Amino acid sequence: MTFSTSAPTRFLTGITTTGTPHLGNYVGSVRPSVRFSREANVQSFYFLADYHALIKCDEPARIQRSTLEIAATWLACGLDPERVVFYRQSDIPEIPELTWLLTCVAAKGMLNRAHAYKASVDKNLAAGNDPDADVSAGLFMYPVLMAADILMFNAHKVPVGRDQIQHIEMARDIAQRFNHLYGEHFTLPEAEIDDAVATLPGLDGRKMSKSYGNTIALFAPREQLQKQIASIVTDSRAPGEPKPTEGSALFQIYQAFAQAQETESLRQSFTEGIAWGDAKQLLFERIDREIAPMRERHEALVNDPTQIERILTAGAAKARDLSKPFGDRLREAVGLRRLSALAGPAGSVAKTAKVARAAFKQYRERDGLFYFKLLDAKGRVLLQSLGFASPQEAGQAVARLQAEGGAALLPLAALIEPLAAQAARDAAEALDSLAAAPVPT
Ligand code: TRP
Repeated sequence: MTFSTSAPTRFLTGITTTGTPHLGNYVGSVRPSVRFSREANVQSFYFLADYHALIKCDEPARIQRSTLEIAATWLACGLDPERVVFYRQSDIPEIPELTWLLTCVAAKGMLNRAHAYKASVDKNLAAGNDPDADVSAGLFMYPVLMAADILMFNAHKVPVGRDQIQHIEMARDIAQRFNHLYGEHFTLPEAEIDDAVATLPGLDGRKMSKSYGNTIALFAPREQLQKQIASIVTDSRAPGEPKPTEGSALFQIYQAFAQAQETESLRQSFTEGIAWGDAKQLLFERIDREIAPMRERHEALVNDPTQIERILTAGAAKARDLSKPFGDRLREAVGLRRLSALAGPAGSVAKTAKVARAAFKQYRERDGLFYFKLLDAKGRVLLQSLGFASPQEAGQAVARLQAEGGAALLPLAALIEPLAAQAARDAAEALDSLAAAPVPT
């Protein structure tokens, strides 16, 4: 049995809604993501992580404002809500629900080791405080909420910075535990690290970050952008004195916006001793050239919250077309079931029990290839796959069978000898029970 592997790769990214986007966010996240979302054969999910925002921010108005600004930023920078799934996390009730299902399989010991939590504990210990002083349970559970974001849509790839790799590993760990207990429901996500994407230095030369207070706002008015750029730290070299590009924040920021040729010409000017004031003017003009059209769109969007609300509501509907049936399937898998299924003729009880517990198992054989089989409630093998080169391919084949259901197999029953035909019908019936709520493909 072979299946096409041309299903799109699903990418998913969340943006916490606490701040106002700065140039570092633009260069490191928004710009590459928007470009990437236009590529063929990818399906992108972008969401405003407002449940995550509650972990670090207790100012309701700020969360609301940030949601507006971040949504407006992504749209102004060219994210096409028709092409991608763009939604607000708190519009998807299946996410907190899944968070609970995952909480019940996540190892507490693993969460104890999460970097963000450990950093707080270490700080408390260093200060001679209780290790958990001022640590909310929300901060502790952060990785589980993030796992729910990712697993809800069975994302294959999650583009993140290096600081977030551990969270993706935890999502994989939690997904594996869940799959082991309840059958193959979740795709194991992978972190996607793009080293080509620049981390932008801030005003003081350290990484541009809100926590360092060294940011340049992305959509500040023109005059303010100019002022902020003027405050980039330089050295005391006088006009006419050659200036090194190495270690120059100004040069690196320029490079993140300019074409290779423009960068070369600035490098030349550095060697020839361009005055810092002139270099800052060049940088300002270059950034403004890229940002100005988006700034206008951003302003129009921010002034029309109703339109943004409409876009997010439409995005949530698209997301829920996937999360609602998948959520139902997960509830069923863990045993949160309607009791009415137990009523009626004895046969139907037996049947429900049988089909409800049919499950896919994925595994690796000694030959190094990846296989799956479909087992019924008693562990009888209903389907046995051939070997696949990667777990992703095997997973895609499973997803496709789940999506197509028994219809994929029944035509075979007519062509094969009676014993095998019965087997095909059994497998088809089991598949149909699973296909009642297919995984998104
Ligand atoms: N933790 C991410 C951050 O701090 C935001 C986030 C929340 C996220 N859920 C996610 C990122 C899921 C990727 C996937 O930036």
